[in-house]
Amino acid sequence: MVSRVIPVDPFDLVIFGGTGDLAQRKILPGLFRRFCAGQMPHEAKIIGAARSDIDADGYRDLIRAAIAKFGGEQACGDAQLDAFLARLNYVTIDAKGEKGWADLQKLMAGKGRVEAYYFSVAPSLFGDLAERLQKWGMADSQARIVVEKPFGRDLETARTLNNTLAAFFEERQIYRIDHYLGKETVQNLMAVRFGNMLFEPLWNSQYVDHIQITVAETVGVGGRGEYYDKSGAMRDMVQNHLMQLLCLIAMEPPARFDPDAVRDEKLKVIRALDPVENHHIARGQYQAEPCNEAENPGYRTAVGDPRSRTESFIAMKIHISNWRWAGTPFYIRTGKRMSSRASEITVVFKDTPHSIFGEEAGRHRNVLSIRLQPNEGITLGVTIKEPGPGGMRLIDVPLDMTFADALGSEADDHVDAYERLIMDVIRGNQTLFMRGDEVEAAWTWTDPIIKGWEARHDVPKPYDSGSDGPTDSSEMMRRDGRSWRKGSNEDV
Ligand code: BG6
Repeated sequence: MVSRVIPVDPFDLVIFGGTGDLAQRKILPGLFRRFCAGQMPHEAKIIGAARSDIDADGYRDLIRAAIAKFGGEQACGDAQLDAFLARLNYVTIDAKGEKGWADLQKLMAGKGRVEAYYFSVAPSLFGDLAERLQKWGMADSQARIVVEKPFGRDLETARTLNNTLAAFFEERQIYRIDHYLGKETVQNLMAVRFGNMLFEPLWNSQYVDHIQITVAETVGVGGRGEYYDKSGAMRDMVQNHLMQLLCLIAMEPPARFDPDAVRDEKLKVIRALDPVENHHIARGQYQAEPCNEAENPGYRTAVGDPRSRTESFIAMKIHISNWRWAGTPFYIRTGKRMSSRASEITVVFKDTPHSIFGEEAGRHRNVLSIRLQPNEGITLGVTIKEPGPGGMRLIDVPLDMTFADALGSEADDHVDAYERLIMDVIRGNQTLFMRGDEVEAAWTWTDPIIKGWEARHDVPKPYDSGSDGPTDSSEMMRRDGRSWRKGSNEDV
């Protein structure tokens, strides 16, 4: 199979925060890989804009080092790297003042090209940047802006941000990134659901017992303690990434694969979420790794607050009040310092209405597992007869489609989430970006839960580093006669 790379139109991309961590780790290495793949045209221009007082050569040196460190295996040689770096420019800019804006204006190639402005800066600067872009004549109707999460920390702040941006840009010009939507398998979720006849008729509460969504990380909060302690797993992961996964799993088929059709359906899911009762939530905070406390300290040490009440783990049981899902719970969980890095969605189907094989055949259920990372793929557990003599004994076997096996080298060719999303910005395709009303609806659901914890001074339960979270999480499942699935990599 030969992958088809369709070059995008020539563009000018300005990265505010161009010397920052995200720019160095993700944005510029990602753009370089698109350049290597032949998708980024040679006429494209990338302009880093930040406070640092360096010149264009200094910026190229910085990005050369960043690509060497974070560029991955797909880098394509020194000559190409030089050609890519030649597309780079830099301006020292003051987001709140006038310094640098005239220089930036001069660097923009002029009209007729795609103009994109990536706000890879603190949200408190979004308004200043938008205002200055307008003042300097760069916020024309063709311009696009890209904004990163966190998009607010509650409904009120998200609304304020939306209003601030709306004063300068139309919704069709605003690209709110949730990098989970750029992941290969997350898009595959839509392909599997809406490209096959097989699943959709069964995709409802009549046939699905429950659905689990797990996003487990082995890392701790690392150097991000200050940010994380003000957010916690709920704001950092649930309000955005897990909510998006839930929407894609639960939404009705959109009429078309186009931005508003998809986002309208996602919004309906969020608006149909029931409030979550407190006994359907398990919150946790990781403890230090025994005998390795210096390297892997506990959460409170890592964030520098011995009394922190912020959760690094959360599990919840969620109900969606609509015809399709009434009665089928969705269990979601995410946490740091867990036993393995595994993100997976599991659809557990109901038992057959009657077993013709009798009680001794045991209970067998079809389980569809969609692995987002690592080892992306889809596994469907089916029940068959155990081979050999000795009567009718049933066993479950996996129908496994690990993408790396099924697609060979093409699976390795996959594009990092940021690369895909930035190319979508240039193409002007908002399908994989969050709309303002979606973000506000997600906060509307999240806010009362967080406010409840704050009002009760809720303290998360401690859990061991390298475990599956606090016992409350497995207890919540046990009460429902269910259990968390081990990763499909392990148990099939
Ligand atoms: C980020 C969160 O949005 O997603 C991080 O802020 C988290 O806390 C990260 O570690 C997980 O992303 P991924 O792509 O590594 O699963």
